[in-house]
Amino acid sequence: MPQLHAIRADITKLQVDAIVNAANSSLLGGGGVDGAIHRAAGPDLVHECRLLGGCKTGQAKITKGYRLPASCIIHTVGPVWRGGLQGEPDLLASCYRNSLELAASKQLHSLAFPSISTGIYGYPLELAARVAVNTVRAVAAEHPVVEEVIFCCFSNTDLAVYETVIRELHP
Ligand code: AR6
Repeated sequence: MPQLHAIRADITKLQVDAIVNAANSSLLGGGGVDGAIHRAAGPDLVHECRLLGGCKTGQAKITKGYRLPASCIIHTVGPVWRGGLQGEPDLLASCYRNSLELAASKQLHSLAFPSISTGIYGYPLELAARVAVNTVRAVAAEHPVVEEVIFCCFSNTDLAVYETVIRELHP
């Protein structure tokens, strides 16, 4: 099993093989963590993103990290929360699964996720954390090349929720 832990940090500062971006389907940048990643990576990132032809909800695409300490960026598009009965949990799980599988296919060993969909897209944090932890745990078990997965929380409140969920689900 990979090491799996939650930390509080700005994901743009992490020196890992890949950070995951909570993007939108255009892949051309936006607010939240997406905006922070584009600002920190520099303008070459959007040039590479333009060549990718967008990304559907639940899918993932990879670029170089440019000025980031991380080598690569995996861009995934989370679901907008519409009450939970419009397939949001499956789509969110797909984001984590496809991102991890893409990392494994590129032989990347360390990966950091933000809490996808829980900002501008409105997914309730605790529900999202359960999907994130369960999916990563299950998918990572099939891909031993991925040795470390970090859940990068932007606030202490979010970190406390992730720590509780990790303890409850995988004591
Ligand atoms: N490091 C780590 N986490 C962060 C950072 C950071 N620097 N900045 C924000 N977060 P959001 P979404 C957290 O809104 O809900 C964009 O416009 C934030 O506190 O970034 O998936 C895209 O282009 C929250 O916990 O992403 C899309 O249009 C988490 O990152 C849309 O927002 C996700 O919040 C995607 O919305």
